[in-house]
Amino acid sequence: MLVALFVLTLGLFCYSQGNSESVLGIPQLYGPSEALLRQVVDFVCELQKYPENETIQLRVYKMGHHEKLLGEYTYQPDEVASIPMMITDYHEGFLECVAKPLNASSSNITATVSDPHYLKVIVPVKNAEIEYSGPMELFEEDILELRCLLEAGTHVSYQWLLNGRLLSPSPRHHFAEDRLRIFRTTSGDSGFYTCIASNTFNNTEVFTSNSTEMEITVKVLASDPDISFVVLKEIQNYSALVTCQSARGSLPITFSLYNSTELVSSVTAEKKNATFKVPLDLRQPPDRLECQANNSDPIAHSQWLPLRVVPVKGPVTMLYDQDIGENYVVIGLKMYCRASEGSHPRYHWFLNKTRLHDRGSFYRVDDQPPQQSILHLSVRASSSAGTYHCKVSDSFDNANAVGSNRKYVDREVLNRLPILVVVIVFGSFAILIMLVSVCCIFGVIYRRRVYGEKSLLTLEMERLAAYEGELESLAYTEAGDVAETASQDNFDEVSEASADEWPQTEELQDEPL
Ligand SMILES: *[C@@H]1O[C@H](CO)[C@@H](O)[C@H](O)[C@H]1NC(C)=O
Ligand SMILES: *[C@@H]1O[C@H](CO)[C@@H](O)[C@H](O)[C@H]1NC(C)=O
Ligand SMILES: *[C@@H]1O[C@H](CO)[C@@H](O)[C@H](O)[C@H]1NC(C)=O
Ligand SMILES: *[C@@H]1O[C@H](CO)[C@@H](O)[C@H](O)[C@H]1NC(C)=O
Ligand SMILES: *[C@@H]1O[C@H](CO)[C@@H](O)[C@H](O)[C@H]1NC(C)=O
Ligand SMILES: *[C@@H]1O[C@H](CO)[C@@H](O)[C@H](O)[C@H]1NC(C)=O
Ligand SMILES: *[C@@H]1O[C@H](CO)[C@@H](O)[C@H](O)[C@H]1NC(C)=O
Ligand SMILES: *[C@@H]1O[C@H](CO)[C@@H](O)[C@H](O)[C@H]1NC(C)=O
Repeated sequence: MLVALFVLTLGLFCYSQGNSESVLGIPQLYGPSEALLRQVVDFVCELQKYPENETIQLRVYKMGHHEKLLGEYTYQPDEVASIPMMITDYHEGFLECVAKPLNASSSNITATVSDPHYLKVIVPVKNAEIEYSGPMELFEEDILELRCLLEAGTHVSYQWLLNGRLLSPSPRHHFAEDRLRIFRTTSGDSGFYTCIASNTFNNTEVFTSNSTEMEITVKVLASDPDISFVVLKEIQNYSALVTCQSARGSLPITFSLYNSTELVSSVTAEKKNATFKVPLDLRQPPDRLECQANNSDPIAHSQWLPLRVVPVKGPVTMLYDQDIGENYVVIGLKMYCRASEGSHPRYHWFLNKTRLHDRGSFYRVDDQPPQQSILHLSVRASSSAGTYHCKVSDSFDNANAVGSNRKYVDREVLNRLPILVVVIVFGSFAILIMLVSVCCIFGVIYRRRVYGEKSLLTLEMERLAAYEGELESLAYTEAGDVAETASQDNFDEVSEASADEWPQTEELQDEPL
């Protein structure tokens, strides 16, 4: 019943739709989803239902912009309403088709509008150029921002190249639309930048435009220079050769040397160091110097360095440490050579009056100026045996060399135990044995006094006497060495014998009396 009613209703509805000629259907707009600029593209606006006694006009507009007609077609029955359009920038967006009677005033039929259709207009990219307003020379930790400008182009994607290599996003590299931002620049960001703009049509046609290269330099600020000096002696005059050295910094760097009152000298160098020669008067109180390194603001400063020169003075001492290997064997020595004074010492090591150089088969010299020089010596090789000493002189003047004490080094000698140690160790051992023996004897006597019953004591005495008798006969019958042992270890024998007796004595005690 219900089904029959539904079918009837549906049938009636269809009938009324099909026959009502005064009703205007909703048009449908068909066309490509993307189009090239200046291309002529056909769009189709299809109308299913329309009143037959009216002339219908179909018009294409941008959605919401009916003031500008993009294309129109006067509907003829049984014709495909093809509306050709010459594509301009303006066509980009949602398009719609409006159907309405040509003579609107004569009818009361209202216009109908299609669903919107999105059209992408591809304008091929043209003439990419990098826009950059900042300085061509940046410093580390700056921000670099470049923009890729185009004369034309829509739906563009951008790529950036540095020295021909594609840049990819990173915590420091941000890409947004046509912009490239690099944060916290480093010297590695220096080079030639290019932007490539591209867009595609129909997934088949690709348009690209490369910009010309733009060179950007990221400079490294000069780091605080180190300052040091060596002393030169030329006949009677002394001078200081002062070296200023920055660990980092883009070249060129201007190094300036100041004393406590004024600028002494300045030089611009294509390297990270500079050397200045300053006259030195050893009789005057020392002046102090500072280096400045400059390749932009801010200027880097060294520490103040006093130009203090103290000639080497004795005594020169040579101390040593032993390197102990397995089994407490001495395998090496570390010898330290020190002078009591001297700001610019030079050290020389000698074995049997032969000068040792930086490194040999069994040694290595480790200079730690101005404090000391260390000679690392392996005593395994027999060639290392001999007498060692060191000499210290001023680095600028060999005339006043001071020698150290001498030490004879030999593997055997180093590992031989000192006689005193032997005496002490063996003496202590003998005393220990004596003390233990005496204790045992006293222990025996004491216990016998406490528990000593006459019968037991006499039994014991007899046993002891018998045992001694046995010993004596043994000593007489056996070879002389046995007798020797017996007499030598007399204490031990006695204590052992008494210790042997004890279990028996106790057994006797335990027996009921
Ligand atoms: C077309 O026919 C309808 C009735 O079917 C009428 O109302 C309308 O006025 C007619 N229009 C024209 C232009 O003749
Ligand atoms: C439109 O309709 C009016 C009145 O019905 C008529 O006077 C006029 O001529 C028609 N115009 C066209 C172009 O058909
Ligand atoms: C789009 O590409 C297809 C092939 O992928 C091709 O058949 C078609 O003609 C192209 N359309 C236009 C407008 O170039
Ligand atoms: C643009 O640069 C890319 C990458 O260097 C290169 O492959 C391409 O040929 C260049 N195109 C033009 C038009 O110069
Ligand atoms: C040493 O210094 C004095 C004055 O500073 C100068 O006249 C003399 O030529 C110098 N001598 C040498 C050898 O450089
Ligand atoms: C600093 O250097 C200048 C020029 O070399 C010199 O005339 C001046 O005496 C120096 N000042 C001191 C305190 O040594
Ligand atoms: C100074 O720099 C040059 C070039 O970098 C280098 O060859 C030279 O050893 C440096 N001098 C000193 C004293 O460090
Ligand atoms: C150094 O002299 C000692 C004797 O004083 C000698 O035994 C040793 O072989 C010498 N060493 C060298 C390397 O000449």
